[in-house]
Amino acid sequence: MGLSGPPRALSAAVQITIDAPRAQDTGTIIVVSSEASITAFAPASVSNVACGFDVLGFAISGLGDRVTARRTRASGVRMSRITGDEGRLPHDARRNTASVAAAALIEGRQTPAGVEIVLEKGLPLASGLGSSAASAVAAVVAVDALFGLGAPLEELLRCAVEGERVACGAAHADNAAPSLYGGFVLVRSTRPIDIVRLPVPRELACAVLCPSLEVETKAARAVLGDSVPLAAAVAQWANVGALVAGLHRDDYDLIGRALQDAVAEPHRARLVPGFADAKRAALDAGALGCSLSGSGPAMFALCRGSDRASIVGAAMREAFAASTGVTARAVIASLPAPGAHVEPAESRV
Ligand code: HSE
Repeated sequence: MGLSGPPRALSAAVQITIDAPRAQDTGTIIVVSSEASITAFAPASVSNVACGFDVLGFAISGLGDRVTARRTRASGVRMSRITGDEGRLPHDARRNTASVAAAALIEGRQTPAGVEIVLEKGLPLASGLGSSAASAVAAVVAVDALFGLGAPLEELLRCAVEGERVACGAAHADNAAPSLYGGFVLVRSTRPIDIVRLPVPRELACAVLCPSLEVETKAARAVLGDSVPLAAAVAQWANVGALVAGLHRDDYDLIGRALQDAVAEPHRARLVPGFADAKRAALDAGALGCSLSGSGPAMFALCRGSDRASIVGAAMREAFAASTGVTARAVIASLPAPGAHVEPAESRV
């Protein structure tokens, strides 16, 4: 969210002051705005990261959603327009993830006016790329800036997670947190919000395969049941610890050994045809590890170096197409990616 660096002018009518971060995981953006509207962008994210079901995630640059928030005389939140969703997302403000998140913020802050929201979906729905989280995060960042609230990131995240709750029935923060904070994060707790930012080794890169398929997160959570065998739990927390240590130590081999999922992937792999073949191709092509991105159908492979990630992405795409006949797009992302931010007025056409 651009939490450091000098103040920068967005336009003659908008003055932004960026507070120095007060602690490792907090920060605010104070925007004094005379503009009638503010647009914010929030990036896609890879959540779970194999071993970290509901607790690990990282942002991906280039892909994401935009929200424009406008003041209204009427109180409350109204969804005025949604683009890029082929008419599929609800306009009912109580059911749309962006407006629910915005409403949580304006109700908590008792803002002097209401807002109407325009949501531009850049992310495909039910893709495993944190689409609903990106909408919710962009909404709270835009509303925060519109009213110059300067809300702490924890407060914005708490509101964004309310959007996730309406989207899939679970208030998980492993997409919303990286989309808001940027980089690679660990969600130590959602109640209260406690986000730990993790370092990213310089050469770490990611190939993300985005098949033209959909998997509803709610359905993908339902296949997990509500208990985990003890042996799986032991393997999982060993790998979370190892992955965090590997990130801190720039230990690519340890990162690779830790990218195993004993909890969700064994149940969810069958929901994504071609996943096993694409994963095999990624590992054969030299990926450190590969798993579903969030609840799928997207899948990610972490790699040492972006050249390797390009080779791995192409191998995954070919294997997936050969196995399923379904097309998929491979995206190569360098890490860490910045989190959500307000867009300069002059960059909007
Ligand atoms: N942690 C969530 C899940 C992410 O796996 O259900 C959903 O994208």
